Amino acid sequence: MGLERVSKILKMADEANTSVIAFNCINYDMAYSVVTVAEEVKKPVVIMLYPEHNYRFNNTDLRGFAEMVKSLASKVTVPIGLHLDHSSDFDYIMNAIKEGFTSVMFDGSMLPLEENIRLSKKVVEVAHTFGVDVEAELGRVGFAADSDEENPDMYTKPEVAAEFCRKTGVDSVAVAIGSAHGVYLEVPKLDLERLEEINKATEKPLVLHGGSGIPNDQLEAAFTKGINKFNVGTEFFQLYYDSVFEYMKAHEGEKNVNLLFEMSNYVQNRLMDYLREKMKLSKC
Ligand code: 13P
Repeated sequence: MGLERVSKILKMADEANTSVIAFNCINYDMAYSVVTVAEEVKKPVVIMLYPEHNYRFNNTDLRGFAEMVKSLASKVTVPIGLHLDHSSDFDYIMNAIKEGFTSVMFDGSMLPLEENIRLSKKVVEVAHTFGVDVEAELGRVGFAADSDEENPDMYTKPEVAAEFCRKTGVDSVAVAIGSAHGVYLEVPKLDLERLEEINKATEKPLVLHGGSGIPNDQLEAAFTKGINKFNVGTEFFQLYYDSVFEYMKAHEGEKNVNLLFEMSNYVQNRLMDYLREKMKLSKC
């Protein structure tokens, strides 16, 4: 069916009182596995590119990634969204839109509130002209390695969320309620009461970042209290890495170049097993 707007997918999730899952991907093995399982379980999904995987690690390029996801989406019947994850660089975001991204995140969470509002609004004004959706971040979802999720000073305040959404016109907002990016040192505890308050204060779909390692019962509760997009990166990348490692170990000492070509199949199957399980969390 081709790419679907992320705002439309989030609306579907909201109507079903659940969340769609958004996976960070770097290449065909990952994106193919996500789209294939989404089609199998008949659920919408979002594929995200983290900018560093383009400009720093050169894992992919913007247009190539966008075209790859478009092509995969054209072969299935379920809605597939394409999203540029965390960027605070206006020019980079504009370039991503030019190269085919239909949803972008402007991350101004490190900035003073007024500056976050001003720049989020600026991105919205241009993006909406091109029919592209915008996610912003309010409060700050930091890093699990720094125990940022334990710092309530960084959490999103409901009344500020209302003001932020009204002034910027963003399509969705990432909230800080006790999650963080990367590997948690302790089991995180989401502030679900705060989430409910934020959800009451604004109509906009809410996004939960730092999805790797949050217990399922907390996720399920968060999905019924306003989270309509749930981002997963670290655990998906870790599984990819582990699968390559396992494959290499199983073939240690062999010198057959065909093993390289057959590796994709092995990795994709491992990723798809994980995705089948993960996608059960989403009820749309
Ligand atoms: P994790 O890498 O912690 O799963 O977080 C992913 C994320 O929030 C991407 O925006």
